[in-house]
Amino acid sequence: MYELCGVTRRYRQGPSVIAAVDDVDLRIDEGEFVAITGPSGSGKSTLLTLLGGLDRPTGGQVIFDGVDLARQSDRKLTLLRRHAFGFIFQQFNLIPTLDALENVEAGMAPLGMRSRSRREGARQLLEEVGLDGRVRHLPSQLSGGEQQRVAIARALAKNPRVLLADEPTGNLDSKIGAEIIELIALFSERRRQTVVLVTHDAEASRYASRTFRMRDGRLLDDARLALAAAL
Ligand SMILES: Nc1ncnc2c1ncn2[C@@H]1O[C@H](COP(=O)(O)OP(=O)(O)OP(=O)(O)O)[C@@H](O)[C@H]1O
Ligand SMILES: [Mg+2]
Repeated sequence: MYELCGVTRRYRQGPSVIAAVDDVDLRIDEGEFVAITGPSGSGKSTLLTLLGGLDRPTGGQVIFDGVDLARQSDRKLTLLRRHAFGFIFQQFNLIPTLDALENVEAGMAPLGMRSRSRREGARQLLEEVGLDGRVRHLPSQLSGGEQQRVAIARALAKNPRVLLADEPTGNLDSKIGAEIIELIALFSERRRQTVVLVTHDAEASRYASRTFRMRDGRLLDDARLALAAAL
């Protein structure tokens, strides 16, 4: 599904240049659950934006289903983002003036469904994430964990190929955070959805098929980590 070759994202900051992502090679197969950990500033979010076509690398290739994302027009990238990639963020990013049901319906807009079946689908998704009693609540009337459940339902509503999650448990206490990770794992398994999860949560590696660690823009896999630890 994904094939990353020598992916680099440099930022120029005054006279200096930072390689936020530095020469990353990575292959992700359909249906995989990949977790990425690493210290603050190591390039995790930057890598995720490259995977989601929100940004282009300054070097290397991000191939998604045989298509080099760096070479796509803005229009093509927008279409890909709209249909293929679902995003979940630490801050939930729900629309504050819409209730839970309407937020999930908004996530279905790319599918161009009739409003009635959209409403039905959104209701069902909210039930699946355990919020059937909260469909008419505004985000401000929901707890953090509940808001993140709505955000998960919204991200999955268009049935994206890939779910990209950037520290979805960063604003939640550890018990609720573990529930959210479990929910993401459960959903992705049920729908054979590919997941790339950036997290500080050690819990995540229990569900991930592979866990990577980023350091200074570099991506280290389990084997290389073990090797580094042994030296
Ligand atoms: N738009 C930008 N312009 C300049 N530098 C940037 C930009 N975005 C990120 N960086 C730099 O790139 C590096 C990696 O940032 P990134 O946000 O990817 O880290 P992160 O691993 O997600 O950190 P955190 O765990 O704190 O979220 C940092 O040094 C950051 O300052
Ligand atoms: Mg980040």
